[in-house]
Amino acid sequence: MDRNQDYDLDRPVGPIQGMRQGLTSYGDAHFSLFLRKVFIKALGYSEDALSRPIVGIVNTYSSFNPCHANIPQLIDAVKRGVQLAGGLAIDFPTISVHESFAAPTSMFLRNLMSMDTEEMIRAQPVDAVVLIGGCDKTTPAQLMGGISANKPILHLVTGPMMPGSHRGVRIGACTDCRNNWASYRAGTMDIEEIGMINEELAPTAGTCGVMGTASTMACVLVALGMMPLKGASAPAVSSARLRIAEQTGTIAVSLIQAGDSLKPQTLLTRESFLNAITVLQAIGGSTNAVVHLMAIINRHPDVAGSITLDTFDEIGRKTPLLVDLKPSGSNYMTDFHNSGGMAALLRELRPLLYLQAMTVTGSTLGKLLDAEPVIPIPRELSCIAPFTDPLYPASSLVVLRGNLAPRGAVMKASASKNRTLLSHSGPAVVFAGSADMARRIDSDNLDVTPDSVLVLQNIGPVGNPGMPEAGLIPIPRKLAAQGVQDMLRVSDGRMSGTAGGTIVLHVAPEAADPTSVLGIVRDGDIITVDVEARVLRIELGDEEIRKRTTDRTRELRPEASEPWVARRRMRGYRGLYMREVNQADQGADFEFLTAEGPLE
Ligand code: FES
Repeated sequence: MDRNQDYDLDRPVGPIQGMRQGLTSYGDAHFSLFLRKVFIKALGYSEDALSRPIVGIVNTYSSFNPCHANIPQLIDAVKRGVQLAGGLAIDFPTISVHESFAAPTSMFLRNLMSMDTEEMIRAQPVDAVVLIGGCDKTTPAQLMGGISANKPILHLVTGPMMPGSHRGVRIGACTDCRNNWASYRAGTMDIEEIGMINEELAPTAGTCGVMGTASTMACVLVALGMMPLKGASAPAVSSARLRIAEQTGTIAVSLIQAGDSLKPQTLLTRESFLNAITVLQAIGGSTNAVVHLMAIINRHPDVAGSITLDTFDEIGRKTPLLVDLKPSGSNYMTDFHNSGGMAALLRELRPLLYLQAMTVTGSTLGKLLDAEPVIPIPRELSCIAPFTDPLYPASSLVVLRGNLAPRGAVMKASASKNRTLLSHSGPAVVFAGSADMARRIDSDNLDVTPDSVLVLQNIGPVGNPGMPEAGLIPIPRKLAAQGVQDMLRVSDGRMSGTAGGTIVLHVAPEAADPTSVLGIVRDGDIITVDVEARVLRIELGDEEIRKRTTDRTRELRPEASEPWVARRRMRGYRGLYMREVNQADQGADFEFLTAEGPLE
């Protein structure tokens, strides 16, 4: 090739791919390309390398993110795969968000991360992008941004961590973090033991090793066709994970060769999302995935509006729970992997899947499954139940509606620890927010019985920015000490995917919204949940609800400190978040980023 052809002023700069795309604006395209090459050559690239299709690799490594600790090795393996296929791999950073190192919550930063991902994909000369992530909010943020940018993308997750061990029993983040902490709170475990357990709960790099949000979203990505079949479950520290990374790099180059047909807005169809929701139900996945999937769906111009919370419930009614993993069951992601992982699960789910849905490999889901060798595993050694003999007949995740949640609420019924609570009425014990709850929940004076319904207000998207995972309201200590392990709990917040209990989440509209019924619940009001009928109700007449709502609205003045009003005066990202975030049933995305938002 002529190494100087790019500087020939009589030739247009093109074709618009590789280094020649998305030129920085200097008013002279040839000079822009000349200057770009000046700088990239400082890194030692040859003209041959720079003439190749470019695969960008999103690097979300951070020393504050142990779930992503293996990303440097994964990047090396992806690069190997890209180069074997004739491409040029260039990694670049976006922000890194870990659950335990993000205040007020990682969810507060998910939309920022999605904007970062979208804009860096748009801004830089990449023909396809490998999105490396894993920790809960990362993969949803990356897919939201990737769909909006609509360049060819595929995902590579960091993979689950290995379980640890305490007194001969396997333990792992983070279901066992919560179980053991609850025992310590109840006084049945001493401080030395909880300290020992702290050392074992996350014994390796990788994402939480149960069916929490990270594992759920990894399985969902495979179901969507955005990741190879084995991509969800291979442990973070395994050689299998590195081979998947190499394969991912090779697939990324083939995505470029496929042109527009495998760009996310074309590849992903309504059927792809229905497959994802089927898998979510069959794995007893995290309730957080409902919020994330709604945000992802509402980024897609051709799918937005065609899937709602009710779609999740409808699919749930015909989808059995097949995967026995904590918190709904008792195993870890390594067991899921050793049971055949997503290939084995999808084979069981075949009758419910849209097998013609496309995947990033260029094959349909059905063809991929046909090509995957079947390795029979004895039933007693597998944590994946047959379709004909499920662990739970249907509806691991349910959507509830009623006067307390006109726009819906979500419950992981399969994670209930006391199934009698799935049909229950009891008097509300109301906490006005997280701080109020922390102050009073363990008070000996708290007027609470095992039949009470614990209600936590103001932890929704606006009420407590980022919708914290505080929906797992702890059992009041005096009841925990009596052996009470589960109570009906209701909030507008979220719950970690690794947690369990009879817990109603994501009540919409949230309590901070002046029109919210959740916001007017008082101590002693009777709350009813009937999962069979999908009802969440407060036993108040319409007139009383109207009166309380009107009284509350009157109190809100422009100078009020309530978040719903105060957000108009907030600066920076916090102000942007507070003013633009939509409700949980829509995905808690920024309204202006959705497919129904502004188009320019
Ligand atoms: Fe990262 Fe659980 S904290 S996946």
